[in-house]
Amino acid sequence: MSPKKPSSAYHKERQNKSSDNRTANQMRQALTLWEEWLADEKWYQLDRWLKQTLGKNKKYGKRDRLFYGDVLFNAARFGYLAATLIKGQTLKAEEAIAHFSTLSSNASRLKQQLLNIARSNKGQDFLALCQWRSQPENKLPTELQPYFGALTKMQEYAENNRAGLFVWNGIPVNYQPNIETLAHHSSESEANAFINAQSTRPPLWLRLNHANKHHDVISELSEFYSLEENDGAIAASGQRGIFGLESYQKGWVEIQDWASQQLAKRVKATPGQKVWDACAGGGGKTQAIASTLNNKGAVWATDIREYKLAEVKRRAKLAGFFNIRTAPWKGEEPIKQPKEIANDGGFDWVLVDAPCSSSGTWRRNPDAKLRNLGEDLSPLNALQLQILTQASHGVKNGGKLVYGTCSFFEEENQHIIKQFLASNTQWSLESEELIGCPNHNSDTLFAAVLSKQAN
Ligand SMILES: C[S@@+](CC[C@H](N)C(=O)[O-])C[C@H]1O[C@@H](n2cnc3c(N)ncnc32)[C@H](O)[C@@H]1O
Repeated sequence: MSPKKPSSAYHKERQNKSSDNRTANQMRQALTLWEEWLADEKWYQLDRWLKQTLGKNKKYGKRDRLFYGDVLFNAARFGYLAATLIKGQTLKAEEAIAHFSTLSSNASRLKQQLLNIARSNKGQDFLALCQWRSQPENKLPTELQPYFGALTKMQEYAENNRAGLFVWNGIPVNYQPNIETLAHHSSESEANAFINAQSTRPPLWLRLNHANKHHDVISELSEFYSLEENDGAIAASGQRGIFGLESYQKGWVEIQDWASQQLAKRVKATPGQKVWDACAGGGGKTQAIASTLNNKGAVWATDIREYKLAEVKRRAKLAGFFNIRTAPWKGEEPIKQPKEIANDGGFDWVLVDAPCSSSGTWRRNPDAKLRNLGEDLSPLNALQLQILTQASHGVKNGGKLVYGTCSFFEEENQHIIKQFLASNTQWSLESEELIGCPNHNSDTLFAAVLSKQAN
């Protein structure tokens, strides 16, 4: 008798089983990667670490990189919630929060707690909780049923209590004072919207380098993405990578968050004017400014890190901006002005896009809220004030100075401006504000515009 032909239901069940096994294996591998990332003494930025670790190992294909990237990013985004639930599963929500926040009051203690969980028999629960929280419309998987009660209590608590809302969105409660000041500058509902936004990632925002390429860029992008335009910025949603597209390779379009584009726009230079981008990094804002000058006038890009200036030059060449110049500058003393600038009495506009805690980019880099927990910001604040002060000497009489950070912490923003104005009486404040999230689907940046007396 020949063996009975398996029914199609049998095949389906086998297929499901083998894909379950594959997922189980992948989740085990994801946990190993998560543990490796945590165990690294330097506790690198997650996106760079993933690029390095997965990129250099041939066993990881494109799909693996996407899968592990997704799981580890969800773990960073919601890890604080999952850890609180695991450590305080039998407690009331507020007790669980208080208990876990004492165990993890700074970055190294938090890291140790996360490592302990990853190495315990709760490691898989931890990852699964973070995965589920990233798609809460899904049914709670069977293996997470033991957490149903704790999750429900936490969600209910989050509806009426700010600390609960923090934890529900994966934000360590230690940041509560920083976010309460955000509520001062905006409103309660905006602060809540900001906290809720931390559970999602903003879209890929793009900026055109040349307005006359708008048509070509949009027609290429719309083949692969669904697009939305806002204030000249283009949000592209879709799976396709941007680097292979002609629009990107030819330098017609750049990746730049909506809020960063707005900060660059605070520099309202006109063709022929001279601008200095003092902390230019790889030149994202340098290019945004150059794109408004039609190659007339000049943009000087400086940075303490010379290797970044090589990137500024590469991008300027690609985009066809011939008026971008670069020079190293450490922010310790006034810049030695080139002759063409000194003859004019200084720059018309100076932008200080200061080094900062990057708290305004938690939506894109959720691991920063874990790695920087409890950091003493005073050395950074001293550097921010120093760079702003030294850069201000480069502005001509009647010129303008724009100070920005990608942080929403008051001590890196309003406090720096206040201190600067207190000891520089020839300057006045035109405007200062937070831009971006929660009012836009983007990062959150700070921008202040200062003007110097005409003589
Ligand atoms: C927020 S990033 C700038 C990002 C850049 N403007 C862009 O749009 O891509 C801050 C920059 O400040 C630079 N920096 C840090 N310390 C500095 C200092 N003492 N003097 C000048 N630049 C400094 C860093 O190297 C970094 O590139």
